[in-house]
Amino acid sequence: MTRSGPILLAIESSCDDTSVAVLDGFHVLANVVHSQVIHEQYGGVVPELASRAHTEAILPTVKAALRRAAKQFQDLDGIAVTQGPGLLGSLLVGHSFAKSLALSLEIPYVNVDHMEAHMLAHFLYEPGIQDKPIPGFPYLCLTVSGGHTQLVQVNDWNDFHVLGETQDDAVGEAFDKAAKLLSLSYPGGPEIDRLAQGGESVFHFSQPQMPDLQFSYSGLKTSILRSMQKEVKEHPQSLDTQLADWCASIQVALITPLLEGLSQAAELVGIQRIALAGGVSANSYLRSQVQKMADAKDWELYLPPFSYTTDNAAMVGAAGQFAWSASRFAEMKDAAQPKRVVHA
Ligand code: KG4
Ligand code: ZN
Repeated sequence: MTRSGPILLAIESSCDDTSVAVLDGFHVLANVVHSQVIHEQYGGVVPELASRAHTEAILPTVKAALRRAAKQFQDLDGIAVTQGPGLLGSLLVGHSFAKSLALSLEIPYVNVDHMEAHMLAHFLYEPGIQDKPIPGFPYLCLTVSGGHTQLVQVNDWNDFHVLGETQDDAVGEAFDKAAKLLSLSYPGGPEIDRLAQGGESVFHFSQPQMPDLQFSYSGLKTSILRSMQKEVKEHPQSLDTQLADWCASIQVALITPLLEGLSQAAELVGIQRIALAGGVSANSYLRSQVQKMADAKDWELYLPPFSYTTDNAAMVGAAGQFAWSASRFAEMKDAAQPKRVVHA
């Protein structure tokens, strides 16, 4: 694998972030993320509004990324773009834009699966950093985002084996729903994380019994709601006066099954090289607990830099560089796919 190579423009538009990056090999020259604020007032992503906002943001974001990277359209060797999974309307904006640009510049483009991109973000070199440890294959990746909760054995850049996953809601979704119950702003995960710093886990919720390596988050929301209702009956101001404790308790309840699953998976497959990926991997409690486990179990641990945890185009560029080096170029007839991308 080379650390400098083709200059790729990478585009990510699967949900509510319009992001564009420029990479020289695995070196990130620019990574611009335009987050859509319009959804805050609705407490969740409104698909129709998201695609409209992508349409408005895509060209300015492309121009900003090129400017920051000190590159021009003519300098680009190719384009990497998220093909799926995600919201179809959102994906279509980035994907159609990438195809049109590739056509007009007469350069190839490559399709990238959003979740694979999250897991391959570990190969990125941040601006100014020349050397850093990168994982060898295989590694075990806990992939946790607003749409996914998976334990994945990453055998190679194009070989992902899902060992276990959620049977209903994703953990990020559970963070966001719980935050809504506490009247916190969207997305709720970072808010709960921030407020939990000043609290203690004093409230307890019933956890579902799941088979090894499987997760379930849909019931927890109801359990959290019931606990709140019960507590408020006895202490009407509890949600205000003990907000930090509620956040800390919710955070521990949502993260604990992930820690248990990760530990079981590592033992089961005998892999000591562990990585985290996805938006929820920004969570400070998850990171500190996994670091403790890694120290105790002698794991080789890879925590993504914060800028590459939530949705960003640099990670799409990393997956794109791998695809490029294997000449896995896309065709003009390829379309955006709301479900997981399966490469031929
Ligand atoms: O990967 P991502 O940006 O988008 C998806 O592909 O879904 O993940 C977004 C999710 C949201 O649910 C958000 O609340 C959660 O990641 N998140 C966090 C934190 N930062 C983002 N959850 C807990 N703690 C955080 N610090
Ligand atoms: Zn994501």
